[in-house]
Amino acid sequence: MGTAVETAQPVRGSNLYAQRVNPQWVRLLDLLEMNVRYERCVGAELFTADGRRIVDFLSGYCVHNVGHNHPDVVRALQGELARSGPAMIQTHAADLAGELAGKLCAGAGGRLSKAFFASSGSEGVEAAIKFARAHTRRSGILAAEHAFHGLTCGALSLMSDAFWREGFGPLMPETAVVPFGSMEALEAELKRKRFAAFIVEPIQSEAGVRIPARDYLRSAEALCRRYGTLFVLDEVQTGMYRTGTFLAAHQFAVNPDMVVLAKALSGGLVPVGAVLMSDEVCESVYSSLPRALLHTSTFSENSLAMRAGLATLAVLERESLGQRALKAGDYLREQLTTALAKFEMVKEVRGMGLLMGIEFQAPKQLRLRVPYEAFGTIHAGMFGQILVMRLFRDFGFLTQVCGNNFMVLKVAPPLVVERGQMDAFVVALRNVIQLANSPGAFWSEALGLARRAFRAH
Ligand SMILES: Cc1ncc(COP(=O)(O)O)c(C=O)c1O
Repeated sequence: MGTAVETAQPVRGSNLYAQRVNPQWVRLLDLLEMNVRYERCVGAELFTADGRRIVDFLSGYCVHNVGHNHPDVVRALQGELARSGPAMIQTHAADLAGELAGKLCAGAGGRLSKAFFASSGSEGVEAAIKFARAHTRRSGILAAEHAFHGLTCGALSLMSDAFWREGFGPLMPETAVVPFGSMEALEAELKRKRFAAFIVEPIQSEAGVRIPARDYLRSAEALCRRYGTLFVLDEVQTGMYRTGTFLAAHQFAVNPDMVVLAKALSGGLVPVGAVLMSDEVCESVYSSLPRALLHTSTFSENSLAMRAGLATLAVLERESLGQRALKAGDYLREQLTTALAKFEMVKEVRGMGLLMGIEFQAPKQLRLRVPYEAFGTIHAGMFGQILVMRLFRDFGFLTQVCGNNFMVLKVAPPLVVERGQMDAFVVALRNVIQLANSPGAFWSEALGLARRAFRAH
C-alpha cells in the first residue's frame, strides 16, 4: 500500500529518512538550506558530499568536546571490538564501568563518589528523580523556569515551556518551577518541605546561555540543605570541560548531591549518560541484597560506551582541553564583542569557556523595526533562523539558536577549535549582521522563507 510520500522521486538518503523516520524534519532542513549530506567529520570540520567544508560551531549541542571522531577514541573503540570482551552480559560486574566511575568521581570531587550509568541525558535525569525520591522519601521535584532537561516524561515534567509539553500530559505530578536566579522563589518552595530535589543547570543552555549571579548556586545549595532537599546539577551540556573546568560546579564552588552527565562523555561516538552521586544517595536505592538491581538499564555500563568514556577523558586531560576552552572562550568573546559592538541589534555576548550565547534584540530604527516585527509575527524564531541559515549557506558555519530562546545564537564549537576558525567565524557573523542591518536582501530572504514555510505547512 503506497502513500504519496513513498512514491516521491528521486529517493535520496534524506528521502528515505523522510519516508520512514521524520518527514517534517527533512522539510525544515530543506527550507533552511541545511539539508546537506555529511561524509566525513574531523575535529571541528564537517565535509559534505558536494565538496563543502562546514566548521561546526554547535558541536551537536555540546557533544563533540574532543572534536569529531577523535582518533584516540576511535582507536579505543576499535580495540574494544577487536578484543571480543564482555559487552552486555548483564550478569557480571563490568570492570570498565568501575574504572570510568572512579575517574568521573575523582574529577568531580566533593561528595560525588558513586556513578549510575545510562544511555542519554534524559535517562540520567530520570534516574536522578528516582534516586532523590528514594533518598528523601519525598515525591516533589523542583526545577527552574525555561530549563531543558530532556524529553522523556519525567524530565519533560521539569520543563516549563509549553511548546515541549503541550499534548503530552498529564506529566509527572508534584513538580514545580521557580525563576532561575530567584532566591526568594526558591526558598518559598523549599520551605514546604515536599521536594526531594532541586534539579538545575548551572548555566541554562537552551534558555539562552543564562549565567547566574556568582553566589546563586552556592546560596541555592545552602537552602536545599536547610530544607532537606537534594541539590542536583544537570551538567549534560556544561560538563566535561565545556566551561573550562571538569564540571561547571567547580566554577561556582558548589558541592552537589548529584550531577547528571551525558553528551560529551563518550566523545560523540556512543550513547552514554552518567549520574554521579554521594554514597548515601546510592545506598538509598541499592540498600540490600534483594535491591541490588532495583534501578538498571540494559545498555547501562555497556563496554563500548565505557571504553569511549575512558578514552574521551584521557584526551580531555592530555590535550588540556579545559584550559583551551577557557583561553579560546575568552578570546572568542572578546573578538565577538568588539566586532559586534556597533550593531544595536546585538544586546550581549556572554558565556563561560566555550559555551557562549549572542543575544539579539529588536532594532530601534524604524526602517529595521518594521520588517523585524512583521517577521516576528510570522514566527518568533524567524530572525534567528535566517542568521543560522546564512551563516551555514554563505559562510560554512554550523550554529543554532537556543531551544527555549530564539533570540540567542548558541556558539559552542568543539574545544579543539583553532584560532583561524574563530577569526573566520567572527568575520562571518559580522557580515551576516551587517546584512540584517540594512533593509533589503536579508529581509526579503526572510519573506521568501516565510512563504515557503507556509507552502510546506
Ligand atoms: C541540559 C540538558 N539536560 C538534559 C538533556 C537531555 O539529554 P538527551 O537528549 O541525551 O536525552 C539535554 C539535551 O539537550 C540538555 O541540554
